[in-house]
Amino acid sequence: MSGQRLKGKRALVTAAGQGIGRASALAMADEGAQVFATDIDMDALSTIREANHENIEIFELDARSDDSVAAGVERARPDVLFNCAGFVHHGTILDATDGDWDFAFDLNVRSMLRTIKAALPGMLDRGVGSIINMSSACSSVMGAPNRFIYGTTKAAVIGLTKSVALDFIDKGIRCNAICPGTVESPSWLDRVDALGKQLGSREEALAQFVARQPMGRVASAEEIAALVVYLASDESAFTTGHPHIIDGGWSGQ
Ligand SMILES: NC(=O)c1ccc[n+]([C@@H]2O[C@H](COP(=O)([O-])OP(=O)(O)OC[C@H]3O[C@@H](n4cnc5c(N)ncnc54)[C@H](O)[C@@H]3O)[C@@H](O)[C@H]2O)c1
Repeated sequence: MSGQRLKGKRALVTAAGQGIGRASALAMADEGAQVFATDIDMDALSTIREANHENIEIFELDARSDDSVAAGVERARPDVLFNCAGFVHHGTILDATDGDWDFAFDLNVRSMLRTIKAALPGMLDRGVGSIINMSSACSSVMGAPNRFIYGTTKAAVIGLTKSVALDFIDKGIRCNAICPGTVESPSWLDRVDALGKQLGSREEALAQFVARQPMGRVASAEEIAALVVYLASDESAFTTGHPHIIDGGWSGQ
């Protein structure tokens, strides 16, 4: 354990098996939180045990299931809820099927309705809570090519975040969104591979992803986790209802 910034807090993380969710679960545990790291992929999730953190508990939680979310929230009784689960669809509006749209809204947005509805009553009873919702720079912040469904869902996350923040602003509850640019994660590497197949060159695909980031690199999951720790901690006590952009300057150009 490297710090105590989250000592005494109980943090529930969805999609903690890999990528930003995993890095955030580890970072919050490093700062003294009791972390409940959850995912549908128990194989991925179980690798968190390698970090040998006594303050991380893992269990299966499907963010698309009301029952699974209710059971998970009852078990974790979180003061901090990090809604990280989400999926990136590729394509324009002309490629979007009803099924793709429904799936993305269920996983990227409705999952947050489920978890927040389940976790808020306990937070209100205790008079304290920090809810952190995963959005993206690709949202209402900016458009990105071939991200029609994705950007639409992530814009909805910002609206949801502002609404929850405002309704409970005088009850000790804060609700913020995180808007990353491109972040190295297993699913991002899959997207690089897929584009590489289209272009006939993985190197070219990688170069295209990096080129849209003005810093000339993508983020590490740990860089995003540092923002999650800040928003989870009392250091961010005066911050609520905002999309926190962490995109290497992508949307700032
Ligand atoms: N990687 C990026 O460039 C980037 C940028 C901005 C925002 N995001 C967002 O960050 C979040 C995490 O992305 P990532 O790339 O770090 O991780 P990832 O996409 O590599 O991993 C996603 C995880 O979600 C889990 N998952 C899938 N369905 C689930 C469900 N129904 N319930 C619970 N867990 C489920 C998977 O098992 C997997 O472990 C997503 O919401 C994504 O949209 C990612």
